[in-house]
Amino acid sequence: MSAFKAVGVLGAGTMGNGIAQVFAHRGYQVRLVEVDEGLLKKGLGRIQKSLGKLAEKGKLAPETVESVLGRIQSGTALSALADCDLIIEAITENEAVKVKVWREVDKLAKQDAIFASNTSSISITRLAAATSRPKQFIGMHFMNPVPLMKLIEVIRGLDTADETMNVIFETAKDLGKVPVEANDFPGFVANRVLMPMINEATYALMEGVATAENIDEIMKLGCAHPMGPLRLADFIGLDVCLSILEVMHRELGDPKYRPCPLLRKMVAAGHLGDKSGRGFYTQQA
Ligand code: CAA
Repeated sequence: MSAFKAVGVLGAGTMGNGIAQVFAHRGYQVRLVEVDEGLLKKGLGRIQKSLGKLAEKGKLAPETVESVLGRIQSGTALSALADCDLIIEAITENEAVKVKVWREVDKLAKQDAIFASNTSSISITRLAAATSRPKQFIGMHFMNPVPLMKLIEVIRGLDTADETMNVIFETAKDLGKVPVEANDFPGFVANRVLMPMINEATYALMEGVATAENIDEIMKLGCAHPMGPLRLADFIGLDVCLSILEVMHRELGDPKYRPCPLLRKMVAAGHLGDKSGRGFYTQQA
């Protein structure tokens, strides 16, 4: 067990509920805060389902499912984070919203609490600067699906202290994950490399190079990827892919990150992938 006892998770969406789950699974007391009651309920349901799946597979004793769930205290008020030693934010990928929430959390959190953002592309240095504790601010980028994926990309902001880095590395290992350090640049490493591939696959589809199924099959069998890039884009969310590409395009200023017009069109039409039931593929309800 690391130095942290109570861990706060802000946001119960895809990433937030997975993060809450892995901490509770490992024995941490978790405070899961989500402003939207409906999303909170949905997030808790997904944790339950995921734990059930892990129990089915023998990765978790069925009788411990209830005790894992019992370690997750959930609610809609930020005040629940007041006793947390580590607070991880996994709310919407919107910098202005993140800054506003971090300013509020900064006022009520313990002085020595560590702040981590799960942002997939927004500057850790800028988010840290919105708080009174940039030395205690870090990026902790989990991968989807959080309970299954080993990596945590740990992002060092310009002022992140070595002690913060060390305690987050220890915690990641304690969760059974593999922490890997990256510096604070738009998209960090995972998305800097992954998103241009997804974007290029979308261009290939738009230009008629191959069908979606064939693009994915070629990449799966040809490059040993577990999912093809278009299937993966549906899984991540096309809106999330577009917003990450927009951040990289704007902040790195290189036209190679220009989001594919087809990706923009699909997001505009509400074809967001698995979450909306329609993306490059149509999902069963
Ligand atoms: N909890 C518990 N079990 C889960 C789960 C979850 N959250 N998600 C999936 N599973 C289960 C499935 O239900 C399935 O169970 P069954 O075998 O009983 O059907 C099992 O895991 C294996 O899944 P699948 O058979 O569907 O497929 P798989 O063996 O290929 O594994 C996968 C699934 C791990 C998702 C794999 O396809 C994979 O690694 N895909 C790539 C994922 C990836 O690249 N993630 C990173 C996205 S980028 C990101 O997250 C960063 C960002 O900022 C955008």
